Amino acid sequence: SGPELAAVVAGGTVDVLDFPKPGIVFKDLMPLFGDGPAFKRAVDGIIAHQSPFDVVAGVEARGFLIAAAIGYATGAGVVPVRKAGKLPRPAFSASYALEYGEATLEVHKDAFVAGQRVLVVDDVLATGGTAGAAIDLVEQAGGIVSGFSVLMELGFLDGRERLGKRPVHALLTV
Ligand code: PRP
Repeated sequence: SGPELAAVVAGGTVDVLDFPKPGIVFKDLMPLFGDGPAFKRAVDGIIAHQSPFDVVAGVEARGFLIAAAIGYATGAGVVPVRKAGKLPRPAFSASYALEYGEATLEVHKDAFVAGQRVLVVDDVLATGGTAGAAIDLVEQAGGIVSGFSVLMELGFLDGRERLGKRPVHALLTV
């Protein structure tokens, strides 16, 4: 159920003060990833909530772990949305302001077949800059975003306001 899944995510999260910069409280979900039964419940919880999709796009770096698990469990393909300079072939780029600093994401221009339904996943939705850029890239590359899912949403940062009408789902909102 929803409350059970929220508790699983909360139980696998450690708040790290002043990382990666002073004043930031970093939500570290590594304990959740490291707990087999908890990770499986979280991944299954994301899958259960989705409308149909053809491909899963995961945002570097922790989104890769979630996307790979969903792709394997559902038989969908997995596409990495990478930090700038990592992809070997022509790519679309999108820059965005992060809660701390700035970054650029990229996706291969041929990552999707036009009209493919793409589920975009990451571990945390904070300001929404990362998610907005990832969604923009998927759409530039011809994909149709079926939804954006995270393990945890920091609701007080209003990140989902930046994602328009696309379905946004979080197992836990804090
Ligand atoms: C974190 C998190 C999300 C993003 C959310 O990634 O994994 O991708 O920040 O923040 P936003 O909603 O304010 O954009 P991070 O920048 O730590 O990169 P990493 O996963 O490569 O460590």
